[in-house]
Amino acid sequence: PRPILLTRHGESQYNVRGRIGGDSVISDSGELYSKKLANFVEKRLKNERAASIQWRVLDEINAGVFDGLTYEEMKKNMPEEYEARKKDKLRYRYPRGESYLDVIQRLEPVIIELERQRAPVVVISHQAVLRALYAYFADRPLKEIPHIEMPLHTIIEIQMGVSGVQEKRYKLM
Ligand code: F6P
Repeated sequence: PRPILLTRHGESQYNVRGRIGGDSVISDSGELYSKKLANFVEKRLKNERAASIQWRVLDEINAGVFDGLTYEEMKKNMPEEYEARKKDKLRYRYPRGESYLDVIQRLEPVIIELERQRAPVVVISHQAVLRALYAYFADRPLKEIPHIEMPLHTIIEIQMGVSGVQEKRYKLM
């Protein structure tokens, strides 16, 4: 069996302030996590050659016109949008942005690549994207995806073996 490690990036300034998206800079605590993560991966995958690639397709769900706002601001400025998302988070598409279903669809090439890889893989991405990837491997139903807990500073290790999928979690801080 070979492991797939899933983790969110270290905490960002936007995470601290509850802002959506925004390609924000990493906080001090997020910076610390990046170092701990690097150490962890080095130890866990000692003898593996590690090619590293950056993939736009792993970008966070595009929040369109709400990028950079807080959920509270969204609720105050456009209550219909806020309610629509609350009602159907899976299908709700941000104006000029994406829905969870859109994200799930764009991740198809990632899933194919992860299935094909023989070597261990570490995926560092974002909350919504990781919910979708995790749901695929852990066999969770579509409707649950937007609500899966995906904590910061935690590595989810998935092992795919003959006897099915096993999961371990490492909370690094
Ligand atoms: O808050 C961090 C974040 O990655 C945002 O950039 C993104 O919009 C959000 O999480 C996705 O989670 P949810 O679908 O629960 O809003």
